[in-house]
Amino acid sequence: MTDELSLAPTPEVMEFGELRIRYDARVLRPRAWTTAQSAWGAELLRGGPEGPVLELCTGAGQIGLLTIARERRRLVAVDLNPVACEHARYNAEQAGLADLVEVREGAVDAVLDTEERFALVQADPPWVRRTETGRFPEDPLLAIDGGDDGLTLARTCVASAGEHLLDGGSLLLQLGSREQATTLDAELSPSAGLALVEVREFERGVVAHLLRTR
Ligand SMILES: C[S@@+](CC[C@H](N)C(=O)[O-])C[C@H]1O[C@@H](n2cnc3c(N)ncnc32)[C@H](O)[C@@H]1O
Repeated sequence: MTDELSLAPTPEVMEFGELRIRYDARVLRPRAWTTAQSAWGAELLRGGPEGPVLELCTGAGQIGLLTIARERRRLVAVDLNPVACEHARYNAEQAGLADLVEVREGAVDAVLDTEERFALVQADPPWVRRTETGRFPEDPLLAIDGGDDGLTLARTCVASAGEHLLDGGSLLLQLGSREQATTLDAELSPSAGLALVEVREFERGVVAHLLRTR
């Protein structure tokens, strides 16, 4: 006889910076290079406003958790996948950060209160074009399907950061290429109060830094 628990894939654990992160095949496998996104986030927090961190599309939680392990802040971590949220809560506990972390299960644009403000938004949305997701058969579709041009959820993350960043706060947005960052930059409306200040290239993606200017 099978039940939901016996059907669950075996959990795996990997080192992510100084943290140990649990995940399984129902979420995206943590990628070692993304420790650089956490390191950059911690650096921006040290030079930015006081305030908590928001991580959109947190998966197993590792990027946000490593950020606040290095620069202690409160963290709100959001993901639509309940399995990802379960891992993120577990990983926060294992890292001794549970008191600082609130994991919210739901869509990026549905789980924040209008008045909430953050010093840093870390965002790791799916960024693969829908027609190309077949190139990554091992990755869960929800974690990689970025819609027609790969930017559907990235746009939602930018809009969310525009609404919820403190003045002087930063959005670090993970994308697939510099071209995607350029596309989003061209779409930024002046009323969003966000400016693209830097794009860093890594082995399998880029991270764009957008600053909240007013
Ligand atoms: C590229 S993965 C990133 C996961 C993790 N941050 C990492 O780097 O390994 C994208 C994540 O977005 C989540 N996701 C997809 N659509 C979402 C939505 N509308 N709202 C919130 N999370 C969503 C997926 O479940 C997945 O965990």
